[in-house]
Amino acid sequence: MASDTVVVVGGTRGLGRAVAEFYADAGRELVLTGREQARAEACAAEIGGATRGIGLDLADPHTVVERLSDVADVEYLVLAAIERDANSVRDYDIEAAMRLVTLKLVGYTAVVHALAPRLTKDAAILIFGGLARDRPYPGSTTVSTVNGAVTGLVRTLVIELAPTRVNALHPAIVGDSPQWREMPTERFEALVQRTPTGRLVTMAEVVDASRFLLENRAINGINLAVDGGWLCM
Ligand SMILES: NC(=O)c1ccc[n+]([C@@H]2O[C@H](COP(=O)([O-])OP(=O)(O)OC[C@H]3O[C@@H](n4cnc5c(N)ncnc54)[C@H](OP(=O)(O)O)[C@@H]3O)[C@@H](O)[C@H]2O)c1
Repeated sequence: MASDTVVVVGGTRGLGRAVAEFYADAGRELVLTGREQARAEACAAEIGGATRGIGLDLADPHTVVERLSDVADVEYLVLAAIERDANSVRDYDIEAAMRLVTLKLVGYTAVVHALAPRLTKDAAILIFGGLARDRPYPGSTTVSTVNGAVTGLVRTLVIELAPTRVNALHPAIVGDSPQWREMPTERFEALVQRTPTGRLVTMAEVVDASRFLLENRAINGINLAVDGGWLCM
């Protein structure tokens, strides 16, 4: 494998961390980020290899260029950071909406802006959306909005950053992710009923799909649902 850098924004936990661990185990130079410098450094030490951690708050996008100033030769950039949000149009929390929109849309784009001059010739970017884009649920007003906007972001970045490839992955609920693995059995069973495969997507399957989108050089401008066929139901 090449020695260029893999950057995972939101790599301290969950799906981002699983992708980060895969590339660290494969011997890649890895930069992972979370909100706090100390926690990002601790995660990098746990993961080991050529990994380092950077504290970066996407909800404060003006700081992003400076925080990433010493990251170079980026081959793969993964944008996976999220803060959980429950909001509805009838009971609208404008501050919460502005925070998530800033984090996921302006923050993600600010990271791409910061690293664009330092992408390698064959670089690829992977943006995490989510199935709430197509399958809203009570409280998903902002989550559905930002995940829908990821589709537009992918398209414009494909054109603006060509030949860099840009794709998005939209997972359904990932049953063994930290966010969901302790959900009550009743809820778990109800979710399983909504999948044609009779099971929830796993972290390993998300890592596998991430690798496909990052590494297959024919894949560009794709919004891939990783949902076990949930969208067919
Ligand atoms: N898990 C699922 O089932 C699922 C389903 C659909 C879509 N997704 C999408 O997949 C992606 C990853 O989700 P996940 O469940 O793996 O998330 P997670 O476990 O909650 O991890 C979130 C990550 O984002 C970082 N983060 C949070 N707020 C941040 C901020 N303001 N600035 C910078 N970094 C921040 C966290 O770092 P610190 O805590 O260290 O600050 C952490 O590394 C998200 O885009 C999510 O929408 C996940």
